[in-house]
Amino acid sequence: MKVLILGATGNLGVRLIPAMLSHNLSVIAFVRSSSKLSSLLPPAIFEQVTVVEGNAKSVDSVKNAILDHDCDAVVNTAGLAAMMPWNSSDLPEIVRTVVRAAKEAGEVRHKPLRLWLLGGMGLMDVPGTKSMIVRYMPIFREHIEDLALLNTIPATVVRWSILCPAYMIPRSTELKGASSGRLATSATVPPHWNDFWFRRLPVVGPFFVVLANASKYTTTLEDNADFIANDVAADSDEYVCKKVGVFDPAGGKA
Ligand SMILES: NC(=O)c1ccc[n+]([C@@H]2O[C@H](COP(=O)([O-])OP(=O)(O)OC[C@H]3O[C@@H](n4cnc5c(N)ncnc54)[C@H](OP(=O)(O)O)[C@@H]3O)[C@@H](O)[C@H]2O)c1
Repeated sequence: MKVLILGATGNLGVRLIPAMLSHNLSVIAFVRSSSKLSSLLPPAIFEQVTVVEGNAKSVDSVKNAILDHDCDAVVNTAGLAAMMPWNSSDLPEIVRTVVRAAKEAGEVRHKPLRLWLLGGMGLMDVPGTKSMIVRYMPIFREHIEDLALLNTIPATVVRWSILCPAYMIPRSTELKGASSGRLATSATVPPHWNDFWFRRLPVVGPFFVVLANASKYTTTLEDNADFIANDVAADSDEYVCKKVGVFDPAGGKA
């Protein structure tokens, strides 16, 4: 199975490469600079990767990368969400581009592509309410636009999932496919969310519950990379067309 990784020079992307290889997947890395990627990866890993240079804001470049290399799956880590609501970034444009490229490539291949995207924890629902966390903590709001787009796309067109981690930290500077095996995952609501009696307080209750939970969702880049690689290798339907939350009981510590 072949996987196209966009943003392979980023914090998560560079760890997705060894994770995918350790699950016996072939990696096509879509980057703006091949020399930057080679400077980041150990030579033994770099030589196992096919590199495509391009811009993730070009539908044709992304679609051609998928079709030229007969990719079955795409993981987009390109683009970084703007933190504050009054800032903006390239991320929504990149997500629109990648989704359209995956849709059009799937039509050519007569089979919907598997697509993993990155969102943020704010997209997850607060258990017991009908609201997303971002309503109570209004940062990284660009992800809302990305999710709204995805929710219009059925699995028969693109088999998408959006991973919604909080802060991700490196467990090691050494790049190798390694997972702690601790990561808990769930669709729609964050795993291991603690509810409190004060959720029922009018107006402010859910806000205080979000605050009380907020600090404990740090995970490692390696565990998130391994989770995506494992799901792609299994060709699982479990998280298709879902937003996915992650939790590390050790809070990302080594
Ligand atoms: N890090 C976290 O704690 C965290 C938490 C939650 C969600 N996320 C989300 O997860 C994703 C990955 O995070 P990260 O920390 O790995 O980000 P990152 O280190 O900033 O990496 C972003 C990557 O995007 C690439 N890129 C940007 N614009 C591009 C374009 N037009 N064409 C091709 N490549 C482009 C960059 O390439 P260059 O090297 O060429 O610049 C880089 O490889 C982001 O969307 C982020 O919002 C991150």
